[in-house]
Amino acid sequence: MQSITLQTPDDWHLHFRDGDMLKETVPATARCFRRAIVMPNLAPPVRTADDALAYRSRILAARPEGSEFEPLMTLYLTDRTTPEDIAQAAAAGIPAVKLYPAGATTNSDAAVTDLEGRYPVLEALQKHKMLLLIHGEVTDAHIDIFDRERVFIDEKLKPIVERFPDLRVVFEHITTKEAVEFVESTHANVAATITPQHLLLNRNDMLVGGIRPHNYCLPVLKRNIHQQALRAVVASGSPKFFLGTDSAPHVQAKKETSCGCAGCYSAWAAIELYAQVFDELGALDKLEGFASHYGPDFYGLPRNSGTITLVKEDWRIPESITLADGEPIVPFMAGQSVPWKLVTD
Ligand code: NCD
Ligand code: ZN
Repeated sequence: MQSITLQTPDDWHLHFRDGDMLKETVPATARCFRRAIVMPNLAPPVRTADDALAYRSRILAARPEGSEFEPLMTLYLTDRTTPEDIAQAAAAGIPAVKLYPAGATTNSDAAVTDLEGRYPVLEALQKHKMLLLIHGEVTDAHIDIFDRERVFIDEKLKPIVERFPDLRVVFEHITTKEAVEFVESTHANVAATITPQHLLLNRNDMLVGGIRPHNYCLPVLKRNIHQQALRAVVASGSPKFFLGTDSAPHVQAKKETSCGCAGCYSAWAAIELYAQVFDELGALDKLEGFASHYGPDFYGLPRNSGTITLVKEDWRIPESITLADGEPIVPFMAGQSVPWKLVTD
């Protein structure tokens, strides 16, 4: 049987949520990833080092017995974040801060309205060698949702990377050809994460033959040429692009409704779906760099010890997962067959 062994991978962008949900999300990720960058968009958000350390303890308490999974915490940048908040976060070992433009996505109401006004905070991040993680979409009502990432690059991202050349910036969950080109052409302190859904799907998969709410996430799926650009860049093996699932669960009732939430809960099949993509591209030899090397290298963290193994064997993603309180969640690609399977012992 065909198999592939990788140095243990990490997930550089995901949403665990909080409370009882952690009993579902943390084990689902810990089954194959050693570390994960945990997004801070709780309600209320994770604003301070104390908030992050308390959240970290709740995540650690939800790990399966014997798990060595390590959550890497982030702070949520608001209009009220100060350089002192950053200094405290650095002292607490928090590696990164997340920038959401206000109103961009789930629980982003508290986010930044005045980006230029936050420049002293970005200065502090640069000084303390923390990373800035960016949800790169403008939120102006007159900008079409399919153009929001492209416009963000020119209006917001370019000025930041020019002004702070020593600040390491991760352009999260990129979805467009323009984002690929920007990251490739700019300096070495800018990298990007790419999700399984943006590699596997384009907007037809969300809108043709009926609206498919479980393929709805932000930034929204784009047209096929953008999907192809993302696929080409991961197949190229460029170290500026690495794994970040953006696994983002919402209960079924919040996805299948007249105004559904954005987010794909991909943790149940994340590494397997990436393996499928790299296999389709004839680039399985590039999967380990993307999943296990380029992320820690960019963050300045050691690569993991240990390995995981995937075998070429069909299995089916469950149709539904039930939370402890009885609420169902429909996972990403529910009911679909996946050709690669993680070997668990
Ligand atoms: C995320 C969520 O639900 O928290 N949703 C999503 O569609 N990706 C937020 C985000 O990363 O935009
Ligand atoms: Zn996200």
